[in-house]
Order: sequence, then structure tokens, then C-alpha cells
Amino acid sequence: MLIHIRRGWEIPERQATPEDIYVNRRKFLQGLGLTGMSTLSMLAGCERQAASQSSADKPKLIGMPEPSATTKLYPAQRNEKYPLDRPLTDEALAARYNNFYEFSFNKQRVSKLVEPFKTRPWQIEVTGLVKKPRTFDIDELVRKMGLEERLYRHRCVEAWSMAVPWTGFPVKAFVDLVEPQASAKFMRLVTFNRPEEAVGMNDDSYPWPYFEGLTMAEAANELAFFVTGIYGHELTKQHGAPVRLVLPWKYGYKSIKSIVRIEFLDQQPPTFWSGLVPREYDFWANVNPEIPHPRWSQASERMLGSNDPIPTLLYNGYAEFVAHLYRA
Ligand code: MTE
Repeated sequence: MLIHIRRGWEIPERQATPEDIYVNRRKFLQGLGLTGMSTLSMLAGCERQAASQSSADKPKLIGMPEPSATTKLYPAQRNEKYPLDRPLTDEALAARYNNFYEFSFNKQRVSKLVEPFKTRPWQIEVTGLVKKPRTFDIDELVRKMGLEERLYRHRCVEAWSMAVPWTGFPVKAFVDLVEPQASAKFMRLVTFNRPEEAVGMNDDSYPWPYFEGLTMAEAANELAFFVTGIYGHELTKQHGAPVRLVLPWKYGYKSIKSIVRIEFLDQQPPTFWSGLVPREYDFWANVNPEIPHPRWSQASERMLGSNDPIPTLLYNGYAEFVAHLYRA
């Protein structure tokens, strides 16, 4: 007899949209101490001040990393080339609703469990088919690359979404710095491996550490962004401090957090989720409202903090930048 035992990643359809926070948004905001004018003004839009509010206006944030040699570089100048079509997500909501399975499969517990996670000192090793293999200290790399802020939409494969001011540098600029060999066709990225700091990594039914991959053409696309900051300050631990990838036209699981190694390869690498459930989480993961997930529709999404479904856009609204990458 075939018995289906549900694994952690196999969420039922009713959980694909997180009802717990959408259904009663006001109650949720109250729980966070976020009702009233300051919240309304934070939710009101994507004006410049949203990313660089004075600390007096902000609710206390959890998951802030230890101060670093580059803390003073935030907030960075915004690159206005990527305007949003929707309001920015309230920072406190985004900070308390995270997919970071190294800590927990419960999104609302991650921000509470990240405290022991040390984000400095932090090295990133660059290996494989690259002319200059080397190891960077993250602060040295940030100084070398410079920082800019971008407002991007983020669409999770589970049909929730947010709009966030990320700070970082283009992946292309990093690739130009390390000079891959002509034979390099893919980049593979790997997350830290420290079960003593990340309690979820003690669950050995998963092939830790988390790993992801993309093509060199995707890496060279202007939207591909290495992120070290959020909402005008350094990246919080639950969002993937000290450095993560952001590919806004793909489902969020491609945007690997807390990267320690980048490899250049001539073959397409397996990825964490495509290895576990290939039918549900493929290598490409381009946002497409017309291709349903095997267990739920991808036609619409719910923004964090809202109960209203909104239509999902092809390539998450970034077709003008990326559609050419996938034309046969
Ligand atoms: N990176 C690592 N290392 N571990 C993870 O569990 N989750 C992914 C992605 N990057 C994940 C990860 C998924 S499924 C999503 S939707 C986003 O991170 C969530 O990012 P956020 O918590 O900053 O919103």
C-alpha cells in the first residue's frame, strides 16, 4: 500500500497563501504594535523616506546583524531605474515572515531563532572555472563594489509576495571582477553550514547546506543583484545576512541567502529544491501565472499584509528585462 507521508516542503494548497496573516491583517499589525499613523505612513508608498526613516519612527527590529566595517555605507543612493507598481511592504511584516529553513520551516519563528547566527567575520570563496579564484572578506567586497538601493517585487512560489528596498551591487559587476573562464556556463552558490547556530540544519532529512544555481547569461542580466542591505540598513539575519542573491523575475527560492561559496561550472548544477522535489521546484523557476504549481494556481498572489489577491505577472513584471533570455 502506498502511504503518503507529508514532508516539510509539501505544503497543502490551503497553506500556499498564509491565511494566518492575510485574514486578519489588523489583528496581526496590532500584535506587532504597528497600528496607527506611523504604520499607515510606512504602508503608504515607496517614497525615499521609507528606506531611510529616522530610527525614532521605526518599530524595534529583530535580527539586526552585529555592526560591521561597512555599517556606515547605509542607506545607499537609490537607483531609480526600477520603479514599483505597488506600495513597499511594511518592514516589520517582512522581517517577521521568512523562509529560511536552516532555522525553521515556520516562517513566523525564523526571526526569533536567528539570534545565535554570527554574520561577521564572513568570507566568500570563489572557485571553479574562474581566472582569479580567491576568498573575499564581505566588507572588503562591499567596499570594492560600492552599493546602490533598488526597489524590487519578490514573488514566493507559495503565492505570497512583497515589495522591498534592497541594497547591494549587480551580480554582473562581481562576475567582471572575478573573471570567469570562457568555458564557465553556470554559477553555483552555497549557503553557510553551521548547525550549532542554525537549529534547522540539525534535521538531516535535508541535504544541507542550501545550494542554488543560475546560468551565466542570467548572472549577467542587469536585474541580478547581490544584496547586503534592506530598508536602508544592513541586511537582517532572517533576510540572509550578510549577503544573499536576489533574482526578482524568479520564484523566491532561487534567491539564496547567507552565501559562503560561489563556483563557476560548465554543467548545470543540481539545486537544493530541484533535487528534493523536481516536479514542483525546477531549476528555472521563472515566475509564470500560466503554469500552475502541481498543487496550486500561480495566477495570483497576496502581498504580505493584504488579504486581496492580485494578478501575478509574467516574469514577476520584469519581462522587458529578461524575456529575451528564454526565447527558443
Ligand atoms: N536561502 C536559504 N539559504 N535558505 C532558505 O530556506 N528560502 C528561499 C530564499 N532563500 C531560503 C533561501 C525562499 S523559499 C524564499 S521565498 C526567500 O528566500 C525568502 O526571503 P525572505 O525571508 O527574505 O523574504
